[in-house]
Amino acid sequence: MNVGAIIPAAGSGTRMGGARKAFLEIGGKTLLQHCLDAFLSIDEITQIVVALPSEEVRASSNGQQRGRVRLVAGGAHRADSVRAALNHLSPEVDVVVIHDAARPLLTVRMIRAVLDCAARGESATIAVPVVDTLHRVDADHRIIETPNRTQFWRAQTPQAFPRSTLIQAYARVTNASAATDEAGLVARAGFPVRIIPGDASNLKITTPDDVVIAEAALARRQS
Ligand code: CTP
Ligand code: MG
Repeated sequence: MNVGAIIPAAGSGTRMGGARKAFLEIGGKTLLQHCLDAFLSIDEITQIVVALPSEEVRASSNGQQRGRVRLVAGGAHRADSVRAALNHLSPEVDVVVIHDAARPLLTVRMIRAVLDCAARGESATIAVPVVDTLHRVDADHRIIETPNRTQFWRAQTPQAFPRSTLIQAYARVTNASAATDEAGLVARAGFPVRIIPGDASNLKITTPDDVVIAEAALARRQS
């Protein structure tokens, strides 16, 4: 297995008040560095492509390639950033693992779990079961239905795919740019995608409150 990792980190952090989230710090390290350290600890990962805002790529003092890590310019939507990174993976890569820079609390165990699936030819995402009751509502916020929540999982990253599956999914699905993750995109293209139970502490840092929660979760893990 020759694995390429993609880290979308080119968002504008609107819900964080316009902060470039990948460069926020928890536990004295940027969110991006937390993610890179997890991926760099796995030998089968031969290449890590990070999609960043184009001005960050130009401003990088270390250049666009450093060891296994390569910086590329992202796109307007998350899926565009992933696609831009995918185009930079070397031909030897046969399995692709994708992880949002905004989830610094991923674990090596999570990465290995999705990679084990992808090595067997099956796409996979880390996810957690929904704990709240779910209501579908109309435009006036009145409940239309209350589905059985046991069928619903909240997708996280990392997610892993045989490279050919991911490429076919992007080619097949209409309006791929609107996809908020690749597990959904690949499933929509007709491929099976396995859910692997993760951990609620692998939160996506979205608002300023999440930084406080992530700091606490990290401190608890390290204690
Ligand atoms: N992302 C990206 N390219 C984009 C948009 C998002 O690479 N055009 C990345 C983000 O940097 C983040 C991940 O996708 O690591 C998940 O996106 P999200 O949490 O929504 O981050 P932002 O888009 O930056 O935040 P917001 O939606 O609040 O603007
Ligand atoms: Mg976003």
